[in-house]
Amino acid sequence: MSEPVLTARGVSIEYRTAPVVRAVRDVSLTLHRGEILGLAGESGCGKTTFAYGLTRLLKPPAVLTSGEIVFHDRGGEDIDVTALDGDALRAFRWDKVSMVFQGAMNSLNPVITVRAQIDDVLTTHRPGMPRAERAERAAELLRLVDVDPSRLDSYAHQLSGGMRQRVMIAMALALEPQVMIMDEPTTALDVVVQRGILREIMRLRERLGFAVVFITHDLPLLIEISDRIAVMLEGAIVELDTAENLYERPQHAYTQRLLESFPSLTGERGDFVRTGEAAGPVVRAPASDDQAAATPALEGTA
Ligand SMILES: Nc1ncnc2c1ncn2[C@@H]1O[C@H](COP(=O)(O)OP(=O)(O)OP(=O)(O)O)[C@@H](O)[C@H]1O
Ligand SMILES: [Mg+2]
Repeated sequence: MSEPVLTARGVSIEYRTAPVVRAVRDVSLTLHRGEILGLAGESGCGKTTFAYGLTRLLKPPAVLTSGEIVFHDRGGEDIDVTALDGDALRAFRWDKVSMVFQGAMNSLNPVITVRAQIDDVLTTHRPGMPRAERAERAAELLRLVDVDPSRLDSYAHQLSGGMRQRVMIAMALALEPQVMIMDEPTTALDVVVQRGILREIMRLRERLGFAVVFITHDLPLLIEISDRIAVMLEGAIVELDTAENLYERPQHAYTQRLLESFPSLTGERGDFVRTGEAAGPVVRAPASDDQAAATPALEGTA
């Protein structure tokens, strides 16, 4: 787990408004191949801004004022992400690093079918791929996220929130990226659907080996699913450790306060989502979720 896939060094991002907002301050972070790195912190601490910075999606008035972002490609090539532009940047995004963003379930295009949207990603990034292969890949992607391929002909409004979110995840998986950045990917969903989707992400990660930057202010959830957790406060990372250490021996006063603010966080670190089985006291696993776990097709609940 020591091989890095994405390295950020000294990243600072400002919103050039009046007054200037220093949203991200000198953040350094190494994401390892296949790991799940949780990014926690209160609303407004800069999580989304940092994620946009990593993928070069910042728009004015946001400016990356300093820092280095390097992607370490599977073949051994290092890509300087901050230097990419135009076609190179478009080719990099989705292909190497994909994103599922806050409120993503509302970002499906309402006027074209799911099939057309997936096809669009494939034709743009895999121009040589024959039509039949694209059709097969689209169906396969929906199956990956446990949505029936018959849904390819649906429009966004015909899908539940959970299904829309699964479709967004399928699209993010379309090109087999090495990194997925997920910013509150399940926050808008109820707990049962959320857990079903998280379990799916864990399973896919195991199978496909991508690394995940998982952003949320739900610290108990991060403790369950992450390998390591970074805690962000006012634009800076104040603590970064394994989920275990962070939970058992939080060093920074802010991390301690954050942990204390979740009264349910007593007892053992739950690994319900990760394994699908409750081990000892479980963090926030409702009884009804056991039923969801026993149902192979989660679509009905999503
Ligand atoms: N377009 C903008 N113009 C000016 N300031 C902005 C803009 N977008 C975000 N900010 C500010 O940047 C800081 C970081 O915001 P950001 O959205 O990155 O936080 P976050 O940690 O993702 O919060 P949340 O948990 O609510 O999603 C906040 O102070 C926010 O007000
Ligand atoms: Mg955010």
